[in-house]
Amino acid sequence: MKAVTWQGKRDVRVEDVPDPRIEQDTDAVVRITSTNICGSDLHLYETLGAFMDAGDILGHEPMGIVEEVGSGVTGLAPGDRVVIPFQISCGHCFMCDGGLYTQCETTQVREQGTGAALFGFSKLYGQVPGGQAEYLRVPQAQSTHIKVPHGPADDRFVYLSDVLPTAWQAVQYAAIPRGGTVAVLGLGPIGAMAGRIALHQGAGRVFGVDLVPERLERARARGMETVDLREHDDVAAVLRDLTGGRGPDAVIDAVGMEAHGSPGGKVVQTITGLLPDAIAAPLTEKAGLDRLGALYAAIDIVRRGGTISIIGVYGGMVDPMPLMTMFDKQIQLRMGQANVKRWVDDIMPLLGDDDPLGVDTFASHRLPLSEAPRAYEAFQKKTDDAFKIVLTP
Ligand SMILES: NC(=O)c1ccc[n+]([C@@H]2O[C@H](COP(=O)([O-])OP(=O)(O)OC[C@H]3O[C@@H](n4cnc5c(N)ncnc54)[C@H](O)[C@@H]3O)[C@@H](O)[C@H]2O)c1
Ligand SMILES: [Zn+2]
Ligand SMILES: [Zn+2]
Repeated sequence: MKAVTWQGKRDVRVEDVPDPRIEQDTDAVVRITSTNICGSDLHLYETLGAFMDAGDILGHEPMGIVEEVGSGVTGLAPGDRVVIPFQISCGHCFMCDGGLYTQCETTQVREQGTGAALFGFSKLYGQVPGGQAEYLRVPQAQSTHIKVPHGPADDRFVYLSDVLPTAWQAVQYAAIPRGGTVAVLGLGPIGAMAGRIALHQGAGRVFGVDLVPERLERARARGMETVDLREHDDVAAVLRDLTGGRGPDAVIDAVGMEAHGSPGGKVVQTITGLLPDAIAAPLTEKAGLDRLGALYAAIDIVRRGGTISIIGVYGGMVDPMPLMTMFDKQIQLRMGQANVKRWVDDIMPLLGDDDPLGVDTFASHRLPLSEAPRAYEAFQKKTDDAFKIVLTP
């Protein structure tokens, strides 16, 4: 079959690889009909290459039709239409029972000290072949699927694999008071969808911050008030002005480790300035892995006693954090990979013909799988108005 493989930094190629097959009786094989590129794939494309091997199959946002199921898989049959969550979960452990599917104790990648195995996501998460391919082997298939009805186009459901539950969790974790205010940092697919969900759930005002003109425009078209990072040195001051001097009730960081610029640069300088060089230098170096601009901005922006919901991915081990400010402002902080199946029942009623969240028109591009190299490049560079790219195998 054809699959999108990682070959090196900024080098993905579509190659012929062996077809996946049932290896354990809890597996299924799914024929993929749509498969998205995600901002998380960009971390592998550029920053986290050290955790990848040449030939690894990428992708964690697929859907398709079940081809074959192992003898131990109940509740799933060939011909079923399914979306595959980005994480692999057993559905019957302590964590799964608690709705914490990204912490599944059956699939946790213990040798790396990480949570549940993820599709197409490097050694850090089990090096499981991903879904940007013609076929996908789905381990723990009794739980690792979301059944969807036949009929509507794939666009209606494909974001259940990641974007919708991730944005949903970001909003739940932000704990925005009814009629309250939230600032969403980053207006990629995750931030854009989080803004839509926040408005849908009754937030009073949703501010969106980014630096890409088309993304700001998209957010405005859906009722968000936007702040263009390129026009302001001090985004926190702008957002305080917009909220009566106080700052928004909640901030969602939908940027993560590859933040542009460093609106919180002053904080880093203050912290490292207080430390002896021998400690400060490695700290600064490490802060270079996680570019903490968005997170520092979130800490600065949120009102006292407010909540920060971190949904952008971070990977550093000793990132310097302004704990004094966090403690003094009494900030509530929640974060983590999205527990996809935890939110599906809440989201499904919104995937009807009235399409309140705009999923039918969410993709900016639908391209054949063979175009993946060009698609990755455009999505990373944000050229060609690339916003969300769906690949068709
Ligand atoms: N927690 C989860 O389960 C989960 C799931 C999916 C994606 N993610 C993460 O969410 C993040 C966003 O994903 P995406 O698909 O929307 O990616 P994306 O790369 O398209 O979006 C990031 C956006 O942030 C903007 N940005 C960069 N620096 C900024 C700054 N300092 N302030 C404000 N905006 C800034 C970029 O211009 C871009 O539009 C990524 O880190 C991704 O890995 C997390
Ligand atoms: Zn994703
Ligand atoms: Zn489990």
